[in-house]
Amino acid sequence: MAKQPDIQTLPGTELFEGFDLGTGHCAVVGLQWGDEGKGKIVDLFARKYDLIVRYNGGANAGHSVQVGADRYALHLIPSGILYPDKFNVIGNGVVIDPVVLIKEIEGLRQRSVEVAANLRISNRAHVVLPYHHLQDQLYESALSILRGDGEKIGTTGRGIGPCYADKALRSTAIRVGELADADQLASKLQLIVTIKNAQLAALAQQCGQDFEPFDADQLCEQYTQHGRTLSQHVCDTTRLLHESMDAGKQVLFEGANATLLDVDHGTYPFVTSSNCSTLGIYAGAGVPGSTVGATVGVMKAYSTRVGGGPMPTELHDTVGQRIRDVGREYGTTTGRPRRCGWLDLVAVRYTAKLNGVNNICLMLLDVLAGHEILKVCVGYRYAGGEVDAFPADAGTLEAVEPIYEEMAGFDQEVTECREFDQLPPQARAYVEKIEQHVGVPVGMISVGPRRDQVIVR
Ligand code: GDP
Ligand code: IMO
Ligand code: MG
Repeated sequence: MAKQPDIQTLPGTELFEGFDLGTGHCAVVGLQWGDEGKGKIVDLFARKYDLIVRYNGGANAGHSVQVGADRYALHLIPSGILYPDKFNVIGNGVVIDPVVLIKEIEGLRQRSVEVAANLRISNRAHVVLPYHHLQDQLYESALSILRGDGEKIGTTGRGIGPCYADKALRSTAIRVGELADADQLASKLQLIVTIKNAQLAALAQQCGQDFEPFDADQLCEQYTQHGRTLSQHVCDTTRLLHESMDAGKQVLFEGANATLLDVDHGTYPFVTSSNCSTLGIYAGAGVPGSTVGATVGVMKAYSTRVGGGPMPTELHDTVGQRIRDVGREYGTTTGRPRRCGWLDLVAVRYTAKLNGVNNICLMLLDVLAGHEILKVCVGYRYAGGEVDAFPADAGTLEAVEPIYEEMAGFDQEVTECREFDQLPPQARAYVEKIEQHVGVPVGMISVGPRRDQVIVR
């Protein structure tokens, strides 16, 4: 029996109590290009909820939770897992790589975190298989060869796009529930692997790469075994959610990836393949549109992006490098350096509106300490005019020039501030500028990775 660390008694978790979460179920969503600190916020808020639910994405996500000196990097498991008395649900809208999930479960158990009946996996979720990884990598290589590196999406290489594509194609998709029936899985994989081998061999040849065909029998054996390993967690999570909500349980929906990566509403085609905004909750968890009572938007005090695509406020200079160094802006999933830039309020106002955000958690404010001047983008210059709307088209966004407002920076370290009034006046003015431009209150400010490093207003 795993010994659960006594994490609930650590200081800090009570600090969010003053934050207005409204009544009912709550959604936490990223307002930029990911890595805003959703993991920290979900871990903090989870204390108040009974179920924590992932509804989109897959192991492309990397959510870090820091408890004291201990850091946990979660990819598929919801960030409520550190509380043993909560249900953590991986909903039907998630694409699950069983190899990654099993490794994640084992890693947590080794660190004495209980992962048992408290983890539930939807039998309707789709399975990421090894050919999805290769397909992801070969598509990126082909794009790079045919159109240049700039046209690559810069995916995490986790097979996310190909798996969602198969979900939409239907006949070449496998759902978690199907791992339980070895005979049916075997015949389905025979068909799928025949198609995949033909496609991937041609693509590999185009890319000048060697190709080792996949073996359907071998895959079937491996994935039925993975299915057996995960079977204790697999259930109809849609029904579980309905019954739990009917019984008065409170649900926290954890967005993965972020709104500007949403397949419909992000900077398409430089996006991921799911609806990462709150719009994805209903399809991805199987709950009605009226479910969410409060929507909390999580944003950084500046901008970051991993992979390709437009980012109007990106900095290629020492200021950008300083943000990267101080903010430790290297990917939780791939370790790639994140592109860094000034805060883009045009983008955040758009995503706050799209998600119906009631309250904002402003993260990593501490990282901006020591800059003489802080710039915030409040509009774009485009084709000789000025626009304040976020363009629908990546080409237009690529062509815009940011219009900045300059604000005085702050020298003082803020990592030990716990009250809004303890922040330097320039930092307070920065927060107020965000509220004014986005039109949503900033109810929480994070000044360090730990649970206790928050200011509730
Ligand atoms: P997520 O994907 O949105 O959950 O974010 P990530 O976990 O990928 O990236 C956020 C990073 O910032 C993590 O390393 C967190 O530990 C860290 N972090 C969160 N809040 C703060 C903060 O207020 N200040 C600092 N310095 N780091 C933070
Ligand atoms: P969290 O949940 C940052 C980006 C990738 C790439 C694009 C498509 O940690 O905020 P994919 O592998 O999904 O097909 O890649 O989306 N991306 C993320 N960037 N944080 C994430 O998740 C991301 N999930 C996907 O870098 O540009
Ligand atoms: Mg992340």
